[in-house]
Amino acid sequence: MEEIFTNIFIDGNKLYTKNLIRGEKVYGEKLVDFKGMELREWNPRRSKLAAVIMKGYKDLPLKKDSKILYLGAATGTTVSHISDIVENGKIFSVESSERSMRQFLNISEMRDNVYPILEDASNPHLYSGLLEAVDLIYQDVAQKHQYKILMKNTTYLKKGGTVIYCVKAKSIDSSKSSEEVFKKEIKQMEKDFNIVETINLSPYEKDHIVIIAKLR
Ligand SMILES: C[S@@+](CC[C@H](N)C(=O)[O-])C[C@H]1O[C@@H](n2cnc3c(N)ncnc32)[C@H](O)[C@@H]1O
Repeated sequence: MEEIFTNIFIDGNKLYTKNLIRGEKVYGEKLVDFKGMELREWNPRRSKLAAVIMKGYKDLPLKKDSKILYLGAATGTTVSHISDIVENGKIFSVESSERSMRQFLNISEMRDNVYPILEDASNPHLYSGLLEAVDLIYQDVAQKHQYKILMKNTTYLKKGGTVIYCVKAKSIDSSKSSEEVFKKEIKQMEKDFNIVETINLSPYEKDHIVIIAKLR
C-alpha cells in the first residue's frame, strides 16, 4: 500500500481514500485497516475521478483545505471520496434531483466539509449566498448544454482555478460519433481555458473523457 496523493492510497489495482468517518460506508465499498487508519475502497467504475487517477493522472489539484464547487453530486459517491481527501476543505455540492438529494443528505449530514445545495446548476445565481470562491469546479451533469452550465459557474472560480469537466459523448449528442463530440468540447473549451490534460476513461467508462483545465 502506498500513499500516492494526499489521503489517496493504492495497492496494486485497488484505490482507496482515508475514511473521514471511521466505520461508515457510503455505497457498500470495502473498508480496510492500514497503519492505524481506515481506508475506503474507491471504485473507478463508480467514480470518474477514481478512473482519472487509475489512468495515471499525476497532478491532482486537491489539498487538505481545498474549496470545491461540485456540479451533479447525485447520491454522493464521488463527493464522499473528495470529502475524505479535502478533510479541512469545503465541497459545495449542487444536485437538481430531489430523489438523489434525499440520499445524499444522509452522507452530507455526517461530513462537516460537505455543503449540499438542491438547485439547478444552470441558475448559479440561486446559490450565490451559499458558497465562497472555490479552487476547483468539478462538473459531472451529463447534459446537452453542459458547457454553458460550466461557464456560468466559473463566476465562483478563483483566478487560475482548475476545472475537472466530465464529458459523456452520448449525453451531449447521440447522433455524432464520440470522437466528434470530444473534439467539439475540447475546441470550445480552448477558447476560455488552458487545457492541462484530456483523459479517456476507457476501460472504466465507455465513451467518456475528462478534461482538466485552468481558467484563463
Ligand atoms: C452522472 S450523474 C453524477 C454522478 C456523480 N458525479 C458521482 O460521481 O457520484 C449526473 C448527475 O447530475 C445531475 N444533474 C443533471 N443536470 C443538472 C443540473 N442542471 N443541475 C444540477 N444537477 C444536475 C443529475 O440529477 C445526476 O444526479
